[in-house]
Amino acid sequence: MTFRAQHLLGIEPLAPAEITALLDRADRYVAFNRGAAKHADSLAGMTQVNMFFEPSTRTQASFELAGKRLGADVMNMAMRASSLNKGETLIDTAMTLNAMHPDLLVVRHPNSGAVDLLAQKVTCAVLNAGDGRHEHPTQALLDALTIRRAKGRLHRLTVAICGDIAHSRVARSNIWLLGKMENRIRLVGPPTLMPAAAAELGVEVTDDMRAGLADADVVMMLRLQRERMDGGFVPSEREYYHRFGLDSDKLAHAKPDAIVMHPGPMNRGVEIDGTLADDINRSVIQEQVEMGVAVRMAAMELLAENLRAARAEAAHG
Ligand code: NCD
Repeated sequence: MTFRAQHLLGIEPLAPAEITALLDRADRYVAFNRGAAKHADSLAGMTQVNMFFEPSTRTQASFELAGKRLGADVMNMAMRASSLNKGETLIDTAMTLNAMHPDLLVVRHPNSGAVDLLAQKVTCAVLNAGDGRHEHPTQALLDALTIRRAKGRLHRLTVAICGDIAHSRVARSNIWLLGKMENRIRLVGPPTLMPAAAAELGVEVTDDMRAGLADADVVMMLRLQRERMDGGFVPSEREYYHRFGLDSDKLAHAKPDAIVMHPGPMNRGVEIDGTLADDINRSVIQEQVEMGVAVRMAAMELLAENLRAARAEAAHG
């Protein structure tokens, strides 16, 4: 079985074999990206449009580079400066763009579900680059590839996901992916930052970093997403760091070879100690960024193959 989907909207609908197929393809692009000639042509002739309705540095740059390395024509739309400000709806914008025949549409939006809605209205392949607190599939895939390469496997690991779980699409996509691959997942954070239905996700939940990190293979830290809070979630950054910030004392409860992850952007001294984040013996944060480009190349290439196959079938059928 390979990857058959038309869009990449989330991890939830994917089968484990599809995840593995995607990661295997991405692994090959890691080696490719380390070479001198970083140019292939599997997306040649195709148009990729990046529509980011929320600020983004690494995700947008990563998608842009991924498309360019595969030979696509890539356009970035600055959505805040677009006609959305003139009252045009998301769907109107999508339909207008669709009329220009893009092949790949990469969308980030502050509302959960907005990218799914958009995918129903267009004829190209849509990739979710993060919708509200719902899903961020390429982030979970790049995290999975990072873990698989560091640990040599992607199953039967204990993974502690720590911090602001409630507002995090990264956490949600990772819970889906790591759960499908049969890992033990612990959510660690203050009750005010835990999703209401955490217990139904098939995970362990604790507000104690020691218990949560005990014997963990992977420690995944999350950013405090202040832009999605309306006050009152955390007492003070100082107190938060004391209880939930990752430093070497807390990390000592995890396995001696546990890896430290963070999707970025980091609040140093809030959810993670800056020195630990930079410690190349423990932190794989830079590897995560590297894997991001490879995963996005693999995802766009697989979707492009499916798109070509669907178009060929439509032309003959
Ligand atoms: C994450 C996001 O935007 O969801 N960042 C990212 O994609 N690199 C996490 C975050 O914003 O904290």
